[in-house]
Amino acid sequence: MTLKLGVLVSGSGSNLQAILDACANKTLDASVELVLSNKPGVFALERAARAGVATAVLSHKDFSTREAFDAEIVRLLRARSVDTVALAGFMRIVTPTLLDAFASRVINVHPALLPSFVGVDAQRQALEYGAKITGCTVHFVDAGTDTGPIIAQAAVPVLEDDTVEALRARVLVEEHRLLPLALQWLAEGRLSLDGRRVRVRPLAHAST
Ligand code: GRF
Repeated sequence: MTLKLGVLVSGSGSNLQAILDACANKTLDASVELVLSNKPGVFALERAARAGVATAVLSHKDFSTREAFDAEIVRLLRARSVDTVALAGFMRIVTPTLLDAFASRVINVHPALLPSFVGVDAQRQALEYGAKITGCTVHFVDAGTDTGPIIAQAAVPVLEDDTVEALRARVLVEEHRLLPLALQWLAEGRLSLDGRRVRVRPLAHAST
């Protein structure tokens, strides 16, 4: 099933770009129907405009509660017939108002191997902790912070002379590969939940 994606962003949007590129080269069976940012002027909005995708800016500061903010996001997503939501560097905690509207259809990419290094600045956390391996995680979003069922993970080494920036760039390479891949698994209907475990059904072999 072709996904109708809403992508929520707050920053540079390199993960959004990976999604747009995957849609364009048909490795992801999806169309991005709306890119929504909680911050004006971010480069992600420019990327969306260049790709001819509709954008919206909705400042969380204009809402008195997280739920009211999420209710407006839901309204905007529904107006575009979005069926799946990707959080791609969206720096806000989402509430059940959004999660219930898109049950098991909200996916996030986090720049660490969960459950390690949750929350902001995960690459710095990994570096300062002294981890030798870190990476990224694509997961279904639940009401916790970076706690939802894990769909896919990829590891990268932490090198001896790493800076946060160098590590961030190395992790991003894997994020850009993994987020479109996980979305494609969803598009193919291959994901199912078994408690916390996400099962990825193998592709059926063509019969002869
Ligand atoms: C990514 O590292 C993502 O995992 C994190 O924020 C960063 C966003 O980068 N949540 P970008 O905006 O996709 O370039």
